[in-house]
Amino acid sequence: MVRASIIAALVTASTVFAASAPNCTLTQKCPSETPCCSQYGQCGVGAYCLGGCDPRMSFGLDSCVAAPVCESKTYNFNNLDRVMSNTKYLGDSSKTDWVSDGNPQQYNNNLLLTMAPDSVGTLLASSTYMWYGNVKATFKTSRGQGVVTAFILLSDVKDEIDYEFVGADLAHAQTNYYFQGIPECRLTLTAIDDHGGNISLSDTFNNFHTYEIDWTPDQVTWKVDTQIGRTLKRSDTWNATTNQWMYPQTPARVQLSLWPGGLASNGEGTIEWAGGLVDWNSADIKNNGYYYATFESVTVDCFNATSAPGTNDKTSYTYNNLAGTNDTVVDGKNSTIIKSLIGTGTDPDAGAPSGSSSSAASATAETVPGRSGENPGTDNHAGDNSGSSSQAAASTATASTDASGSTSTGSSNGQFSQGGGSSSSSSSSSKSGAEKLGASQEKVLKGSVFAGIIAVVAMMAL
Ligand SMILES: *[C@@H]1O[C@H](CO)[C@@H](O)[C@H](O)[C@H]1NC(C)=O
Ligand SMILES: *[C@@H]1O[C@H](CO)[C@@H](O)[C@H](O)[C@H]1NC(C)=O
Ligand SMILES: *[C@@H]1O[C@H](CO)[C@@H](O)[C@H](O)[C@H]1NC(C)=O
Ligand SMILES: *[C@@H]1O[C@H](CO)[C@@H](O)[C@H](O)[C@H]1NC(C)=O
Ligand SMILES: *[C@@H]1O[C@H](CO)[C@@H](O)[C@H](O)[C@H]1NC(C)=O
Ligand SMILES: *[C@@H]1O[C@H](CO)[C@@H](O)[C@H](O)[C@H]1NC(C)=O
Repeated sequence: MVRASIIAALVTASTVFAASAPNCTLTQKCPSETPCCSQYGQCGVGAYCLGGCDPRMSFGLDSCVAAPVCESKTYNFNNLDRVMSNTKYLGDSSKTDWVSDGNPQQYNNNLLLTMAPDSVGTLLASSTYMWYGNVKATFKTSRGQGVVTAFILLSDVKDEIDYEFVGADLAHAQTNYYFQGIPECRLTLTAIDDHGGNISLSDTFNNFHTYEIDWTPDQVTWKVDTQIGRTLKRSDTWNATTNQWMYPQTPARVQLSLWPGGLASNGEGTIEWAGGLVDWNSADIKNNGYYYATFESVTVDCFNATSAPGTNDKTSYTYNNLAGTNDTVVDGKNSTIIKSLIGTGTDPDAGAPSGSSSSAASATAETVPGRSGENPGTDNHAGDNSGSSSQAAASTATASTDASGSTSTGSSNGQFSQGGGSSSSSSSSSKSGAEKLGASQEKVLKGSVFAGIIAVVAMMAL
């Protein structure tokens, strides 16, 4: 099976277009000028130091900004007031529930994650982190070959618990988990895992289901509509070679996403897993202008342990050791906020209007990781995205005259146009979901221009 989480495609996307940002790995940490290693394995400042910043691959353990602790809450997407773009978010989880990358839309009191032609879709990540606990999401997936919907927990050291849905198979939820992003951890699964990771369901595009992850220090249970689909016990994950539990154990963000597994630029295994190349001329694209997944609500119930692991009684999580295991997580009081998109964990006030500290960040440091593109000057777009790219490029120019260091706050929607593979059409069995969406949604295709404007606004905020 492929390493099929969203990370795969996003890493592909960012590495294709981000040759200029330094890469980071466990053995090659970020340099001091761009100390923060993003979720996608590249170095930068600002948003690179917020959610997803991997302390093990960053310049120092204190390079990443501390992560807001868990908050028990139900998120109904009646409006998107508490969703903020990753080009604006500065770490204040009291004002923002979800950090977005792409083009989230509101429709009939639901959240739509959208994926317009030749875009890399939409990702929402919770601003707070769960250190064990229970999370439920009620949603309808997208559909069509190559189109992947996901609901996952992902920690900054890449522990991961997943639900993934490939649009070519609307009858199964695929489940998965990783310890520190190491695929081999799945080898430890024994016969206990007799569901093989796939849970059978009725049509996931036309029907809402409630997908639940119940995560304790001792087991993970995946439940759909309250029925147990899979159980993973920590006791089955011991790795005698490394003397570790290869079990997800560190604070994680909830991530909701819609992304193109079926892009020609992705690995062959990923494309095959996703059911083939995305059809950008499908019925959903023609009727609505995008693929979409429909989220009704998400409920987070924190674990509330009275002693570590799994507490959330202070304000933020940090790591005190490169091991990145449960016993190296500190539930403490470090600030989670930076003053601008050139701030870092060690220089949170950089770029503040008062100019209290001078930043180590160079004028060319990347400030918003991954999908937004490390090199907005490179235009890989087709057709209707060209407007947005020139906007983004203009913002970049402005930014560099400011020496603000913000070079990558450009459009996330449409910033990468790489797919366009054509192949046979996806499921045409039902149009009801598309019909329900209605014509009013067509306007969102203009979101790429909007994203350019966001870039300008983000610039002005600096
Ligand atoms: C980062 O890694 C990618 C993929 O291996 C490579 O194409 C790119 O050139 C690297 N970037 C740098 C700055 O080394
Ligand atoms: C948390 O704050 C303390 C006190 O200011 C500091 O010594 C420590 O380095 C910070 N930890 C991290 C991981 O940022
Ligand atoms: C143990 O961990 C090592 C290093 O990550 C990995 O290569 C190996 O496959 C793991 N063994 C098992 C049984 O999971
Ligand atoms: C789960 O379903 C996917 C897609 O149909 C398939 O590729 C995979 O082999 C299945 N996994 C198991 C363990 O049956
Ligand atoms: C936490 O980590 C320690 C040290 O690796 C280990 O002994 C313990 O079993 C872990 N606990 C959980 C709940 O993972
Ligand atoms: C944890 O505490 C919060 C706030 O007091 C509460 O809403 C939530 O239900 C608790 N979670 C559990 C699992 O007890």
